[in-house]
Amino acid sequence: MDTLDQLAQEASAAFAATDDPDALEQVKALYLGKSGQISMLLKGMAKMTPEERKTAGANINRAKEAIEASLAARREAIRRLALAARLAEESLDVTLPGRGETRGGLHPVTRTLERIEALFASIGFDVADGPEIEDDFHNFTALNTPADHPARSMHDTFYLQEESGKTAEGILLRTHTSPIQVRYMEAHVAKYAHLPTMPEIRVIAPGRVYRVDSDATHSPMFHQVEGLWIAESVSFADLKGVLADFLRRFFESDDLQVRFRPSFFPFTEPSAEIDVAFLSGALKGRWLEIAGCGMVHPNVLRHVGIDPEKYIGFAFGMGPDRLTMLRYGVNDLRLFFDGDLRFLRQFV
Ligand code: FA5
Ligand code: MG
Repeated sequence: MDTLDQLAQEASAAFAATDDPDALEQVKALYLGKSGQISMLLKGMAKMTPEERKTAGANINRAKEAIEASLAARREAIRRLALAARLAEESLDVTLPGRGETRGGLHPVTRTLERIEALFASIGFDVADGPEIEDDFHNFTALNTPADHPARSMHDTFYLQEESGKTAEGILLRTHTSPIQVRYMEAHVAKYAHLPTMPEIRVIAPGRVYRVDSDATHSPMFHQVEGLWIAESVSFADLKGVLADFLRRFFESDDLQVRFRPSFFPFTEPSAEIDVAFLSGALKGRWLEIAGCGMVHPNVLRHVGIDPEKYIGFAFGMGPDRLTMLRYGVNDLRLFFDGDLRFLRQFV
């Protein structure tokens, strides 16, 4: 093998021993740089005869090209190695199991409210809303409960204070959803004033209400769902039928006793409380009051401009928190509002 071939092989081996781009450029200088081996050989041609120079020049150039080719090949190889290393470092292991989305869930009372709305919507009830901060006209007076009526002390009410610290005249957190009855009837009467006969009213109104109450079946903030059906002839039998049927559908059970217990509300006459008990399960045999109800008092209809000689109907106000206790067998209602996720997760 002649020296030029040897030189080319030596260069190629030196390149192969280098795996860093900067080091490679330094090794290159040894062979192809200004004072590298090839330059030296080319300089040495000055002393040759023209004949010798011709063959030597050609041979040196071949060796130079061979060295350049192995340099280019090594550069490319180093570039690929660097890319492969980077890819390995940044790679994602797509075989790892997913972390999973943590999905929220509806609060059990919200589920009950949605269920109540769906069941009443299926028998043609509209859904209405009203303010949680009420005036005492809508919360009491319009419901046949005047200022000096003893029934006002039945609800130990949260009155609102003005910034001055004075009690704002007659502004309170509503103690029941019944004021929505009044607001809905007022709006209905105004809306259909131009018609000779008022279209019937069939509505439920869910919402938060407030009382100074706290024990296993009472919370200071709780929910009610008001119901109202006013038409030319709606009877107490209709009230019993609608509510008993609702309860069987709500609990998906006939294993249930429903009792209408005579009671008193200023805004209904006659009035009843509705109690429910199960024949089996965790709450077996225990009666729980779930609603108040009755035929809407003529004075309430008069207050909103509906003629009680022409229209009649029933109203009820039920406690969806109590329905939720019964449905899931929970024995303390305050658990629903403590915000303890260990309790709430069980319903998701
Ligand atoms: C009323 O509030 C009447 N407005 C209901 C009514 C409406 C009667 C329309 C006639 C016509 P009562 O105070 O009984 O009634 O409350 C109704 C229901 O709310 C109760 O049966 C009970 O299920 C629920 N409830 C009452 N107080 C609480 C409380 N502190 N925590 C949870 N649920 C309660
Ligand atoms: Mg009651």
